[in-house]
Amino acid sequence: MSIQLNVNNAGLRDHELAFVRPQVESAFRTLTEKTGAGHEMLGWLDLPKTYDREEFARIKAAAKRIQEQSQVLVAIGIGGSYLGARAALEFVKGPFGNQLTGAGKAKGVEVYFAGSNISSDYTQNIMDIIGDRDFSVNVISKSGTTTEPAVAFRFFKQKLEEKYGKDGAKSRIYATTDAKKGALRGLAVEEGYETFVVPDNIGGRFSCLSAVGLLPMAAGGMDIDAVMKGCADACELYANPDFEKNDAMIYAALRFIMFTKGKKVEILASYEPALTMFGEWYKQLMAESEGKDNKGVFPVSANFTTDLHSIGQFIQDGSRDLFETVLWVKKANQDLFVPNDPANVDGLNFASGVAMREINEKAMKGTLLAHVDGGTPNLLITIDKRDDYNFGELVYFFWKSLAISGYLLGVNPFDQPGVEAYKKNMFALLGKPGYEDAKGALEARLGSLL
Ligand code: PA5
Repeated sequence: MSIQLNVNNAGLRDHELAFVRPQVESAFRTLTEKTGAGHEMLGWLDLPKTYDREEFARIKAAAKRIQEQSQVLVAIGIGGSYLGARAALEFVKGPFGNQLTGAGKAKGVEVYFAGSNISSDYTQNIMDIIGDRDFSVNVISKSGTTTEPAVAFRFFKQKLEEKYGKDGAKSRIYATTDAKKGALRGLAVEEGYETFVVPDNIGGRFSCLSAVGLLPMAAGGMDIDAVMKGCADACELYANPDFEKNDAMIYAALRFIMFTKGKKVEILASYEPALTMFGEWYKQLMAESEGKDNKGVFPVSANFTTDLHSIGQFIQDGSRDLFETVLWVKKANQDLFVPNDPANVDGLNFASGVAMREINEKAMKGTLLAHVDGGTPNLLITIDKRDDYNFGELVYFFWKSLAISGYLLGVNPFDQPGVEAYKKNMFALLGKPGYEDAKGALEARLGSLL
């Protein structure tokens, strides 16, 4: 196992972990015995043992076909139907995975994510990037009626039909949706798209290691066997009921302790831009699971050292309701060494020949000490390197830990009632059938406010 958790800089007093331990053990039992709120949504808990092998083989075959037929895959989805796959591809291939050429070129097709916003500019940009090249579409929506992906799908379906004709388009559309019901399932059956399943007992933010995330990952060139192996190993390790040997329990305990001490904001910071989207995935997982009943740690993500030149001031010296979890990647995939410059105008020659990775590490250690000195407790999660295995392992670690900390807070970590509020208002303002009654009152309110 490569994940290591270090809580030496969390500012804990000796008794604090011991005090919460029984509560954490109880939350752990509630989770593993499946007796807590939302227990019907625990399909992810044993996923590496129970996943559908036949579908997994079909995912690999579909990915191969996409790679043979296309240069680009447009993955259409939002929230849990998008974040994990994008986080995975950037985690492994890096932020420029789609653009690299020559020796640095990653395997697989370019993958672009549409339907995760309602921006016409963003959508048009993806169409422009595709240009005349061959492309396929994976539309991912459990309900099939989510506005953002539904709007985007219309555009890319139309583009496919213009390019390949109606029948040609059908063979390039892959639908990942509910096994039996929903608008997208109906359309897929009618049109004869190849379909994959969003399992009933897995919520969006826990779905990235089902077909939801695995098809874009595999088409993009990731080794999904290695992803599932990382997930399976983590599943086994974090099933250990021994608190002292289970870092998922300890991380949950620490987050709970921080919350009760008034540290209500967690910053997940990394020193690799490739982890930016992992931070976005983490934010959804934490916020949608814990942020309810007026409780929860507010999750923020940051890229260091980039953000040390922006929000660094606040972390060091602003209001003291923050704690920081650093996700540190030990090895660089490619080492670069600082070149020597005889003129030494920038005074940097003391570091000539030093690996950038080493400078990054010194920055991490120096920042950690500075932030702790400034009153921001630090939790340090270390992994060996960015690869498919580690992605699967990390995902499971965060799932398990979050589920325990949700139960510690006393919330149902597996529902998301708050997500509906904006949709109802948007539908009423757009005049969607069934929402007409609220339209007048909302417009009147807006009239006096905007
Ligand atoms: O976590 C969730 O449940 C949400 O983020 C959903 O995944 C998101 O709203 C997309 O829903 P759907 O897959 O039904 O389009």
